[in-house]
Amino acid sequence: MPHPSPRPATGPLAPDFVTFDLDQLQTHEGQVVIFADADDPLPRAAKRADKLTRGAVSRAVASARFAALDAGGAVVLNWPAGMQAEALMIVRLGKRAAAATLRAAGISIGKALSKAPALICADATPLPDLLQAVALRAYQYQAQKSDPKPDFGPVTVMMRDTDKAADCADALAVAGAVHLTRDLVNAPANVLTTTSFADQIGDMQALGLKVEILDEDDLARLGLRALLAVGQGSESPSKLAILHWQGAEGAPLAIVGKGVMFDTGGVSIKPAAGMEDMTMDMGGAAVTVGLMQALAARKARANVVGLVGLVENMPDGRAQRPGDVVKSLKGDMIEVINTDAEGRMVLADVLWYAQDRFAPRAVIDLATLTGAIIIALGHDKAGVFSNNDALANAFLKAADHVGEGAWRMPLGAGYDKLISSRIADVKNSGGRPAGSITAAQFLQRFIKPETPWIHLDIAGVALTKSDSAHAPKGASGWGVLGLDALIRAEFEDG
Ligand code: BES
Ligand code: MN
Ligand code: ZN
Repeated sequence: MPHPSPRPATGPLAPDFVTFDLDQLQTHEGQVVIFADADDPLPRAAKRADKLTRGAVSRAVASARFAALDAGGAVVLNWPAGMQAEALMIVRLGKRAAAATLRAAGISIGKALSKAPALICADATPLPDLLQAVALRAYQYQAQKSDPKPDFGPVTVMMRDTDKAADCADALAVAGAVHLTRDLVNAPANVLTTTSFADQIGDMQALGLKVEILDEDDLARLGLRALLAVGQGSESPSKLAILHWQGAEGAPLAIVGKGVMFDTGGVSIKPAAGMEDMTMDMGGAAVTVGLMQALAARKARANVVGLVGLVENMPDGRAQRPGDVVKSLKGDMIEVINTDAEGRMVLADVLWYAQDRFAPRAVIDLATLTGAIIIALGHDKAGVFSNNDALANAFLKAADHVGEGAWRMPLGAGYDKLISSRIADVKNSGGRPAGSITAAQFLQRFIKPETPWIHLDIAGVALTKSDSAHAPKGASGWGVLGLDALIRAEFEDG
């Protein structure tokens, strides 16, 4: 029964910032990274490397291979003559590069980082977006290895003005928060339980967040019976964790996350093949918690409350049955058609609780809610459902800005008949047709008409089988960057 506590995974990137010193180009023994573009004169570091290598850099930059690179792409010269380095990486980056190009450059570097120490010769290159991308790409989950090894050597950044290093702190802190989300999603369900997750959230008080953990007695007293029904077949006690970052006055933005620690499907049990992936069914909660850490770390001037419903969906003698009817916190009676449609039952109560208690300015929920969203959008884009065009458009813009795929999906009263119940008020499943939309329609019942709301179905993007732009395969942390950008743009003062 007692479980090992989660091991710390690879820590976030913490580069050393040093002033520009061209002599290090010759003596550095690991990887050296320089920037150049064919149309610009060679920057200082590239010029020095060119001299040391007797023109290899200018030949590379003039080559057809270099010309064929996307902006931010790179070529690597191994064991370059005239240098101590084992690799010289030339990143194609022009002057006044756009943020997306700086991120692409960071991804090239992050992908290539190794155990050898890296020296990034940045000079006057703008660093926050670039270094954030390095950190996002340079992630590996080692917490479950018997002998976890540091995968990446130290990173040193040479820059013209080390006073500017402070500008990178927020960007790196947000990358660290994405790493936290990935660690949580990657963690197995015997390690990360409702209890150990809640304990970890409790520890975040040290960051200046106000944390409250409601236990089963609290939840029963309050009437969150739909949430409790999902967890009643598990030995792990159901919980609701609330994290509050009050960096401004006024009504808060509420972020709500689905935290199903493991989803067996319950009595409507899932097939064995691939069930192990259901350790990621707390992905919405993980993004919520990562986002709250990001806001606290960068001392955001915003009022944001994160609420995560933590449950485990197990088949058991006490588990809920198909056909059960449960009373939600709102009062609507839910007919349980399929115990595998559990996420929406958890969210129904947490969404209502969030609105009732905090009267939020807006509500955004995140959930690995439906397999159907994977059929619709695959693994590149999350489904965006909203009752408010302005809020939805602001989110789509923020997601696009940070390179997170997102696509608006429809809502509509016409879908309600698929989930109308003969004996109760609503069914928890409408079957296969429009499976992601009926799930969103179900959630919308628990949103007050005046509350601007977005539901993000992240089932396809939370965990990927192949590398994505800024994440190696596995947990992606999708959503932390986009929501942080949305909060900066729309919910932050001054
Ligand atoms: N957690 C699953 C959705 C899911 C599927 C997430 C695949 C990630 C990858 C959710 O609880 C679920 O089981 N949904 C059912 C709903 C159905 C029973 C109406 C589904 O999508 O099949
Ligand atoms: Mn399920
Ligand atoms: Zn689920």
